[in-house]
Amino acid sequence: MEIPEIYRERINSCLENYLNSISPDNSYQSELNDVMKYSVLAGGKRFRPILTYTVANLFDIDLQKVDSCACAIELIHIYSLIHDDLPSMDDDDIRHNQPSSHKVYGEAQAILAGDGLQALAFQIISSDDEINSDTKVKLLNLLSVSAFEMAEGQSIDLSIVSKDVDIGLLNNMHKKKTGSLLNCSVMLGAILNPNISKKDLTILDSFSSYMGLGYQIQDDVLDVTTSSEVLGKRQNSDSVKNKPSYPSILGLDESVKKYESLYQKAIDEISNLSVNEKPLRDLTIKLMKRSF
Ligand code: IPE
Ligand code: IPE
Ligand code: MG
Ligand code: MG
Ligand code: MG
Repeated sequence: MEIPEIYRERINSCLENYLNSISPDNSYQSELNDVMKYSVLAGGKRFRPILTYTVANLFDIDLQKVDSCACAIELIHIYSLIHDDLPSMDDDDIRHNQPSSHKVYGEAQAILAGDGLQALAFQIISSDDEINSDTKVKLLNLLSVSAFEMAEGQSIDLSIVSKDVDIGLLNNMHKKKTGSLLNCSVMLGAILNPNISKKDLTILDSFSSYMGLGYQIQDDVLDVTTSSEVLGKRQNSDSVKNKPSYPSILGLDESVKKYESLYQKAIDEISNLSVNEKPLRDLTIKLMKRSF
């Protein structure tokens, strides 16, 4: 099995075990757990936790120590998707090849599932006995700042619908709404190594900034070029809602060139790491070639 596959299986089983472990044992069981499981266990590429495992593993960190961060970042990601699909946001009815959360459980329950997942992301790290307290504070601080930036990015995204915007503003929005959580995925893996050098931290931070912007530009491109069946979500979601996007401003060819060059810059950055960067380089190349 390829390494990312091993991490994907690991995160899937961690998420399932975790969500099964929090079922309340009181007499009136709320629907919340069902809604959260419906969205979290539907799948997705799991790129964020795979990144966290990959980076931590560059520094030989025990995978058991990485599980809570890997789960936390995916829980925040899924919360962001549940809210992103709501009628008041992107109004999308399909996610991960199944009806969006609010289509099955209604808007109120979907909003609450997002709220619940965000809270649990912080709980899962703070209650992890494998990680020392100083490191935990750093991890939780990064996760909270990144989740906030994602919300800021989403706020910008919704405020510019049908407006003429320049590439500078789009870059800023992409870096926040998507780049922040991807940066967080990488840096959680890095911070788990208490002895990591400042130089390696700087390199990984810069790597993830390039990759995060590239990832959202590529998402905008895939929205235009790829069928709903392959994407697992509606094609042309951006243009239908008049969302300014890289392809709508720069055209498809330039957008593809832009994200490819960003991934290349990300790859160039990590060649100076103090450890063998090959697994991270291979993963980035995989990302660059992703079809959904
Ligand atoms: C979708 O992210 C939303 C963005 C931030 C681009 P992913 O493509 O990584 O989501 P999954 O793989 O479906 O979970
Ligand atoms: C989503 O961007 C970013 C977040 C959820 C934070 P999009 O709105 O482009 O994501 P998709 O295309 O619906 O997955
Ligand atoms: Mg959106
Ligand atoms: Mg969307
Ligand atoms: Mg999109």
